[in-house]
Amino acid sequence: MIVLGIESSCDETGVAICKDGRIVSSVISSQVVHQRYGGVVPEIASREHEKVLNLLVDQSLDKAGLAVSDLGGVAVTRGPGLAGTLLTGVCFAKGLALGLDIPIVGVNHVEAHVFANFLADPTLKFPFVCLLVSGGHTQLWLIEGLHHYTLLGETRDDAAGEALDKGARVLGLGYPGGPEIEALSRSGNPNKIKFPRAFLKSGNLDFSFSGLKTSLLYFMDDFSETDQTIRKQDIAASYQQAVVDVLSSKLGWAADQTGVDCCVVAGGVAANRVLRTACQKQLFPRKVLFPDMEYCTDNGAMIAFLGEIYLSDGRKSNPEFTVDPNLRMENR
Ligand code: KG4
Ligand code: ZN
Repeated sequence: MIVLGIESSCDETGVAICKDGRIVSSVISSQVVHQRYGGVVPEIASREHEKVLNLLVDQSLDKAGLAVSDLGGVAVTRGPGLAGTLLTGVCFAKGLALGLDIPIVGVNHVEAHVFANFLADPTLKFPFVCLLVSGGHTQLWLIEGLHHYTLLGETRDDAAGEALDKGARVLGLGYPGGPEIEALSRSGNPNKIKFPRAFLKSGNLDFSFSGLKTSLLYFMDDFSETDQTIRKQDIAASYQQAVVDVLSSKLGWAADQTGVDCCVVAGGVAANRVLRTACQKQLFPRKVLFPDMEYCTDNGAMIAFLGEIYLSDGRKSNPEFTVDPNLRMENR
């Protein structure tokens, strides 16, 4: 089956085509316009999606060597995300599906992040534990099959990506902050400053990152006045290390508690190389997988891929379906 996937939950417009479980084209347009505001402005984001969707669909068809009439279905993110940007994508997708008289399915963005790991390794087998780390989510899931998900723990306040984005802002870096902190950290000493790690109780699989962010704020107040021997690179590396230590340790605890042989990491923060190495070390000799770099952050490929699984299974959406900015990943 040939499925076109559309992603517009935040500030990336992603369009991709999946054919029989394989991505045959994937194009992305990143909205740089938000950089000057230090974060995503929802109204601007919706309008930016609208401007490029048509063009991206044409480009993805061209790249795949397909015509619009070859499409057998459309998949689109229906949540979670920003209400306005989700609506832009869903309305566009509905128009396309209606015009072509093909089925449409609304896809959960978080679930699509998890399933992006099958693109990196099609031999991945259930059950596995997934550490989902993005700008909006930090969760640990036991994934036992399609629609068979158990939440093991989640953040009580900020998401890991949000902690990195906010930390970057405090350090005067650009948005999104995760890649900026990672780049600066490369020449820094991660052990220079001992930022707090909120492990909560041993074995507890919930997270908390708000204290870390506050301690960076306090540190920067003192830092500018006194200690000039510490470089910004060291602060970034130490801050990133605090996030990574908690994430990798808790993934290890989750693997121990569930007894799975394999873990996966999903979402934008999965692109972080320090996190990748720490998880591999923590989980050894268990297997740990990460999506391909291009499929860690938001993209249309993961939507097309999961959409094809749903549509092949006969699970199309009612054309009346609407967006859900607070959609949770649940069994269905
Ligand atoms: O999955 P994603 O693209 O969007 C959401 O669904 O939220 O994740 C975006 C998050 C941002 O917080 C961004 O700073 C973070 O992923 N991120 C990274 C890296 N690349 C993106 N964090 C750390 N290291 C990276 N290389
Ligand atoms: Zn995402």
